[in-house]
Amino acid sequence: MKILVTGGLGFIGSHTVVELQNKGFEVVIIDDCSNADENVLGGIERITGEKPIFEKMDLKDKEKVECFFQNNPDVEGVIHFAASKAVGESVEKPLLYYENNIGSLVYILKELNKKNKASFIFSSSCTVYGQADKMPITENAPVKEAESPYGNTKQMGEEIIRDTCKVSPSLNAIALRYFNPMGAHPSTEIGELPIGVPQNLVPFITQTGVGLREELSVFGDDYPTKDGTCIRDYIYVVDLAKAHVVALERLLAGKNSENYEVFNVGTGKGSSVLEVINSFEKVSGKKLKYKIVDRRPGDITSAYADTTRANEVLGWKSQYSLDEAMKSAWDWEQKIRS
Ligand code: WQD
Repeated sequence: MKILVTGGLGFIGSHTVVELQNKGFEVVIIDDCSNADENVLGGIERITGEKPIFEKMDLKDKEKVECFFQNNPDVEGVIHFAASKAVGESVEKPLLYYENNIGSLVYILKELNKKNKASFIFSSSCTVYGQADKMPITENAPVKEAESPYGNTKQMGEEIIRDTCKVSPSLNAIALRYFNPMGAHPSTEIGELPIGVPQNLVPFITQTGVGLREELSVFGDDYPTKDGTCIRDYIYVVDLAKAHVVALERLLAGKNSENYEVFNVGTGKGSSVLEVINSFEKVSGKKLKYKIVDRRPGDITSAYADTTRANEVLGWKSQYSLDEAMKSAWDWEQKIRS
């Protein structure tokens, strides 16, 4: 069965392609390579022994998207990762984010609507909750005003899919709201490849560990939490990738109760920034150089998932601990710097 993975050369996309191939799916990747490298294809092939079909394409090009689906009528499902995702950049260039993230989504949905049956998995984010009132966060926690145009494109994306599913019974969709993905494939053949100075915590830690960065700045230790630093739900990227395959198989098998469903994908455990640093020091045996600085504007205090629906309805549960995920991130960092 042929599955299209948009953004399949990216961090979560590439790990999902591996898990799809492991389950016997034929995978086609579309990626514009704006935030990923074509060499990732080799990494995937070294893991699974199978090189995915790849088309370099800008999904904002409506004609190209139409032509792809005309030439690939046997695509039965789409996992849609392709999107711009830098929160800060989205504030400076909102139209770039709305054109890219919303435009590509609309063109893909229009093509899926031409099929008798289609399955669609959407890469969403816990960012839609903003600072939720209650922890852990359930799927019916209110969606709050987005902190950034990036976050807004995730909220709008979910609404566009929901509204489309309402009038297209042939379209079956699941939105997966990720918490904080981290780590790398245990083979160290694929992993996170941030461009420039990492915005996210874990790659900044591992780059500091290998000496690429002078020291980590911890953005505030005066939050109302156990140790004053922010709490997040750090989920191992391989666990997250497997959640996409479980969600896709749910739709392909017609097990979904509605034709639009939402699931939080996290570990259900909150970890503070200092706890993540401790995890790194434990798995690496190195002391991490860091300093406490001012809070980062826009950061929320705490976010971790209530995974009941994912566990009991979707039938997926994270298997790896923070330390295991951190070990994979550290192994990967050392490999790419060797
Ligand atoms: C985690 C914690 C920082 C860097 C982001 C996106 C979100 C989603 C997940 C895509 C925070 C602290 C970080 C550093 C630090 N992405 N930190 N020093 O902000 O929770 O979520 O990634 O969907 O949309 O916003 O992740 O890794 O940036 O930060 O102290 O150098 O680490 O303050 O508390 P975040 P993050």
